[in-house]
Amino acid sequence: MANNHENILYFETEFDYPLIVKGKGIYLYDEDGKKYIDGCAGSISTSLGYGRKDMAEVLSKQAEEISFVHRHHVSSKICNEATDTLKECFPTMDKFFMVSGGTEATECATKLARLHWYHKGKPSKNKVIGRWMSYHGYTTDALAYGGNPGRRKEFSAILREDGHIIPPYCYRCWASKEPESCSFECAKALEDQILAQGPDTVAAFICETVVGTTMGCVTPPDGYYQKIREICDKYDVLMVLDEVMCGSGRCGTMMAIEQYGVVPDIVALAKSMGGGYFPIGCVACTKEAAKPIEDAGGFPVGHTWAGNPIASAVVKKTLEVIKEEQLLDNCTKQGDHLRKRLDELKDKYPFIGDVRGKGLMQAIELVKDKATKESYPRSEKIAEKVFKECMANGLIIMTSVNMDKGQKGDAIMMGTSFDVTTEEIDELVDILEKSLVKVFS
Ligand SMILES: Cc1ncc(COP(=O)(O)O)c(C=O)c1O
Repeated sequence: MANNHENILYFETEFDYPLIVKGKGIYLYDEDGKKYIDGCAGSISTSLGYGRKDMAEVLSKQAEEISFVHRHHVSSKICNEATDTLKECFPTMDKFFMVSGGTEATECATKLARLHWYHKGKPSKNKVIGRWMSYHGYTTDALAYGGNPGRRKEFSAILREDGHIIPPYCYRCWASKEPESCSFECAKALEDQILAQGPDTVAAFICETVVGTTMGCVTPPDGYYQKIREICDKYDVLMVLDEVMCGSGRCGTMMAIEQYGVVPDIVALAKSMGGGYFPIGCVACTKEAAKPIEDAGGFPVGHTWAGNPIASAVVKKTLEVIKEEQLLDNCTKQGDHLRKRLDELKDKYPFIGDVRGKGLMQAIELVKDKATKESYPRSEKIAEKVFKECMANGLIIMTSVNMDKGQKGDAIMMGTSFDVTTEEIDELVDILEKSLVKVFS
């Protein structure tokens, strides 16, 4: 453990973490000067390249002017300005509540849904139905409505069970359908679950619009979210989307759901909206979702750093940069290029079963047999081997494992900051190909 520090509780005790001392654009540099492409933007989190002077200036200027206020007593001008920018970027949403990360955002989103019904005089409507293989954060409630079997396992005894539905995983359909025979059984499962739980007990349904690490960029088919919206409306269930990873422009639109032509009631955002320069999260909702809570006197949820001035300044600047530098278009352009290069790898190699994703959030699923879609036994740790080989070759990617009902499956995910160039994507894919060939040879 050359770099590992004795006082840190590491994610993986046995892993020798490179010690990063500098970042520039999509590149990271360790203490020995080794250069890495950050091919997964941290954890599909940073939207602006590293080392930007304009972002550093915004941080330092705001810290000098006013670094902290508490929302119970005062408000700040910069928070108002950031919220105006949020409204411009997310025009279908009306009310915004800024927090410090993705888990806080999903927790606040589901609390907002529960409070909505509480103040409408229906306190029994407090269940949050989730979707298997969607991840919403690591707090107890987020793990409960979350559907990542691996992350829930150790805490299962303390997780509230409000029900989960099957995911829209077309590559290995849980309803045993093919695209030709599919009539959105996975979406209709929501109706069955609401009925079984009792519509009078269900406050909301939550899922990741495009699934992140739990499945490796699973992208539901067109029509899926229309069906989900219809079912939510039919039973007075609020539709809550987790766009912590896929939102804020990563898929080429400010919200990934825009590409499905559906407006949710509540959205949780984080990661990319802070550029990668400050911890940030945000709950956005329609005025109808917020109204009962506002009528009852306000949103009582705590969180000391909610609406923090520095976070607000960073969000405002990040969203401005995304607009000024036309980074949504670049996400689509470079995402298409990445996808094309990954599709070429799929045609060339027998171990790539599926390529999927939207914009700069793309994944490949690695299989033992392309024809039968058979996965490698998990004991072979294929995704981890690819990760380590890429790392040795100067590329950081993300692994996604056990997407096949929490039992098996290997995928790797890629997605850089939004200001990536075509040449940089080519460099990333070239290193990836070299690493894959080594692992599978
Ligand atoms: C979709 C999704 N929701 C929620 C979270 C939790 O966010 P955070 O780690 O910022 O608390 C994550 C984190 O990766 C995520 O990908």
